[in-house]
Amino acid sequence: MTDSSAVPNNSLQGKVAIITGGASGIGEATARLFAQHGTRMVVIADIQDQLGHQVATSIGIDKCNYVHCDVADEDQVKTMVESTVQKHGQLDIMFSNAGILSASDQTVLELDFLQFDRLFAVNARGMALCVKHAARVMVEGRVRGNIVCTGSVAASHGGKRRTDYCMSKHAVLGLVRSASVQLGVHGIRVNCVSPNALATPLTIQALGKSAGEIEKAYETYARLKGAVLNVKDIADAVLFLARNEFVTGHDLLVDGSFVSQ
Ligand SMILES: NC(=O)c1ccc[n+]([C@@H]2O[C@H](COP(=O)([O-])OP(=O)(O)OC[C@H]3O[C@@H](n4cnc5c(N)ncnc54)[C@H](O)[C@@H]3O)[C@@H](O)[C@H]2O)c1
Repeated sequence: MTDSSAVPNNSLQGKVAIITGGASGIGEATARLFAQHGTRMVVIADIQDQLGHQVATSIGIDKCNYVHCDVADEDQVKTMVESTVQKHGQLDIMFSNAGILSASDQTVLELDFLQFDRLFAVNARGMALCVKHAARVMVEGRVRGNIVCTGSVAASHGGKRRTDYCMSKHAVLGLVRSASVQLGVHGIRVNCVSPNALATPLTIQALGKSAGEIEKAYETYARLKGAVLNVKDIADAVLFLARNEFVTGHDLLVDGSFVSQ
């Protein structure tokens, strides 16, 4: 006889998760969804301290904690991950999600390498640091954990602008593919969620338009009509990846069939 009241393996009940970039947008929506699905603790790691504390408090300080962490800085990432394990006993899920856009268009002919270097420090190096330190504590703690990185449709297509962003998201895909090959022996899954363009503080700020105007502008980016991509759609996909037992090395597109612009 099986005990039908037992918590299934793929439940988030009792799990400890870190979400980078969790103070806003996709990360915030995912923090809320994880908490609704029973995580014991969600640690939001971000650089927007006031917002991060507000989000953690609104979720509940018994279920969510905010920690200042610039993901581009290895010492800060190492300390954030290790202190999570010290305070909460283990790390089950790393959602490495923090990312930025450059201020200018960054076409190949006009690449600004100061902006390029900062973007790579966050989007590529930051992702690698979070995967490295999460995987290290999972291996040490013998936790068959789940790591999810935020890629983008830009990870598999070129574009007219944002060359540095496109390159950095291709790097995320390479990281996920390599890490999934190397960490499988430890039972650790590593996957990528790749959203189409959507209205979040990232794009609202970069384009200087309202959420409604951005959603209208992004309509042509998807062949799927009659639906508007929002942060909850991405959080649902992350939840699937965070709970799964056998999917690894996968790039889960949440793109409504992307149309390259
Ligand atoms: N919005 C889109 O259209 C879109 C599409 C595809 C992929 N993405 C990716 O989704 C992820 C989340 O972006 P979003 O759209 O939710 O934007 P967002 O700006 O709402 O959230 C990003 C968060 O990352 C944090 N962050 C930035 N730099 C950081 C650093 N150095 N250390 C720690 N935290 C840092 C920000 O403070 C912010 O809270 C990013 O990786 C982005 O590239 C976004």
